[in-house]
Amino acid sequence: MHSPLIVALDFSTLDDALEIADQLDPSVCRVKVGKELFTREGPLMLRALHNRGFDVFLDLKFHDIPNTVANAVLAAAEQGVWMVNVHAMGGRRMMEAAADALARNNMATHLIAVTVLTSLAGNELAEVGVSASIDEQVEQLAQLAQSSGMEGIVCSAREARRVRQVCGNKFFKVTPGIRPKSSAANDQQRITTPSQALHDGSTHLVVGRPITGAESPSDAVADILEQIRFKPGKA
Ligand code: C5P
Repeated sequence: MHSPLIVALDFSTLDDALEIADQLDPSVCRVKVGKELFTREGPLMLRALHNRGFDVFLDLKFHDIPNTVANAVLAAAEQGVWMVNVHAMGGRRMMEAAADALARNNMATHLIAVTVLTSLAGNELAEVGVSASIDEQVEQLAQLAQSSGMEGIVCSAREARRVRQVCGNKFFKVTPGIRPKSSAANDQQRITTPSQALHDGSTHLVVGRPITGAESPSDAVADILEQIRFKPGKA
């Protein structure tokens, strides 16, 4: 079993990202590359991380017409990323096209969906024409994502419990907003400890600043693995 930990490399440059990555052990955590870093450094960033042995979650949240998203997801897979994501709001045909593109090309890359951005408040959902509550919308989109061939979703740990009831244990619940015991909340509104998140159904924990901003990122990783009783030797 691999560690459930994914370290968010939210940096502006390749050099800054690698400075931290070089202090991490790819056998006990994966890494996430988001829009800013990828837009600036592109595939070079992915190659640098792959060369160091990391599994990479490319967090670009594609949302476009089915053909465009399918080709983008395939392009990510061809670069060897471990996981990539799309917006479930792109709809069934978009998600199916993306999943098909990976299957037809025998790609092992995991494909997951974002349901409702956790930055959105209930009234903002209404403003974009969605009358459902956030919880209802997350549940509906999680089910749609699953029946459209997605392997999981990004969700808050708070939502993971319900998603587990509706979509089962195996469906990935990749959860940010994780704060190890005794670390700062930063700008996260709803935070959960690593062990609580796993207990509530999270399958993967996305942690950024508590690790990347720590004096010793490797100690911060070790502390989290200790909290969830993950034994590195078993990876
Ligand atoms: O530094 P921190 O642990 O807050 O980083 C969390 C990561 O998860 C960031 O890359 C952030 O963009 C991402 N994220 C999040 N909340 C979401 C979705 C993604 O914090 N709802």
